[in-house]
Amino acid sequence: MIRFVVALYSEAKPLIAHYGLSLVPGPFRMYSGEQAAVIVSGIGKAAAAAATTYLHTKLGEPKDGIWLNIGIAGHRDRPVGEVVVAHEIVDNGSGKRWKTALPNVSLPQEAVVTVDRAEDHFKVDAAYEMEATGFYQTALLFSPIEAVQCVKVISDNRVSRRHQLKAKDIEKLIKARIEIIIPLAEATVELVDRQNKERSTTNEAGHPKPPLKWAGGKRWLVPHLRELWTPHRDRRFVEPLCGGLAVPLGLRPKEALLNDVNPHVMNFYAWLKKGIHPRIRMENDSDLFYAHRKRFNELLGKGEETSQEAAELFYYLNRTCFNGLCRFNSKGGFNVPFGRYKTINYQKDFSDYRAAFSKWIFSSTDFDAVPLEPEDFVYADPPYDVEFTQYAAGGFNWEDQVRLAEWLSKHTGPVALSNQATERIITLYEELGFDIEYLTGPRMISRTGDRTPAREVLATRHM
Ligand SMILES: C[S@@+](CC[C@H](N)C(=O)[O-])C[C@H]1O[C@@H](n2cnc3c(N)ncnc32)[C@H](O)[C@@H]1O
Repeated sequence: MIRFVVALYSEAKPLIAHYGLSLVPGPFRMYSGEQAAVIVSGIGKAAAAAATTYLHTKLGEPKDGIWLNIGIAGHRDRPVGEVVVAHEIVDNGSGKRWKTALPNVSLPQEAVVTVDRAEDHFKVDAAYEMEATGFYQTALLFSPIEAVQCVKVISDNRVSRRHQLKAKDIEKLIKARIEIIIPLAEATVELVDRQNKERSTTNEAGHPKPPLKWAGGKRWLVPHLRELWTPHRDRRFVEPLCGGLAVPLGLRPKEALLNDVNPHVMNFYAWLKKGIHPRIRMENDSDLFYAHRKRFNELLGKGEETSQEAAELFYYLNRTCFNGLCRFNSKGGFNVPFGRYKTINYQKDFSDYRAAFSKWIFSSTDFDAVPLEPEDFVYADPPYDVEFTQYAAGGFNWEDQVRLAEWLSKHTGPVALSNQATERIITLYEELGFDIEYLTGPRMISRTGDRTPAREVLATRHM
């Protein structure tokens, strides 16, 4: 349900007609239908705040309802009839400002300044009106930032001063722009849906999603792997280079042996299995990030890398650092910088993982020390082979690729391997008797910055 807050009935009329809304009796003029509700607040920010609260209470809505403040505004230069969306909302009296989170639409963006009395002199380049700050602060109490938008139709400017606009003129102005306002409302709905999906800690099946950001995550490959896995689903699933756990969390094997050479990621999973409720402060703040990074490195220095505190700090650093990278300096200190994300959703409740991991074993060694049972289903996903360069992703060089291929080829149970489809990887696995299938991976960023879809190889044996 999209909630519109407008100051005047003449601003509401085109919305009421568009959505086919009917009057809901009460202290405010309010109209409601299947897709939308409109409330007429009256002039001023206090009235807008009161109407927003009333609408929220009246609809008894979930936390992430969509809110739009629509109305007319004055601007120094913008032409009458132009529609602008607020990238910032400023309270003229107190000087308080709020940055908004905009959906992806190609409308002009403008600061919206809320004044207490109708403004004649448009001092700065901004849309001047009288309700936005009352609306915005209040709606933010009920919904996330991306769900709250403010859209203004320019009604007067320095050339066309129209203090006493008639209701008919205002209605005409809004009506003429309804085809611009509605797509913005729809784009806001889409933005909120997308953010909700990202924030959700479970996948479509209601199972927990990978808890960390991990380079080379293979969520996209799960549907292909599921076809291979299904006939073998009673076997133990082994991923000797398991990284972010996208595949086991997608396939949900009953029993699994999951290993990665990175001890911190495995320590984190071991703590999730034990049950963890983070006690450290988690905020998207650069000072806090560097303090936590320092503390994490102190724990490593003291040999306390398997402690619960180290696990919590690792989670925080992974979510907050640049691109979720996991890099260490020559002294073994974590050295990835602050990530500068707009928003980060820190998970506080990891209880779902406890159940999912209950029969899974976690270890941290080189892959070839992973103790395979003859019947195990093995899926291996090493760092990509990067041909023709000295660069070896994650320190995994060509000798490691060969070592892995030979180790996998000795396994008697079903084996699947994914990698970048380089010539030498294809030859290596073909010569070891694997069946080869090609897939197109999601877009990846190469080191040179160009975005090219990766051609992937899926090599299988004993399927
Ligand atoms: C491409 S990632 C795996 C991603 C994982 N499949 C996922 O979906 O999140 C490769 C992983 O191999 C691990 N790794 C690198 N060298 C290793 C080794 N010698 N033994 C075990 N794991 C290794 C890295 O730490 C990294 O997590």
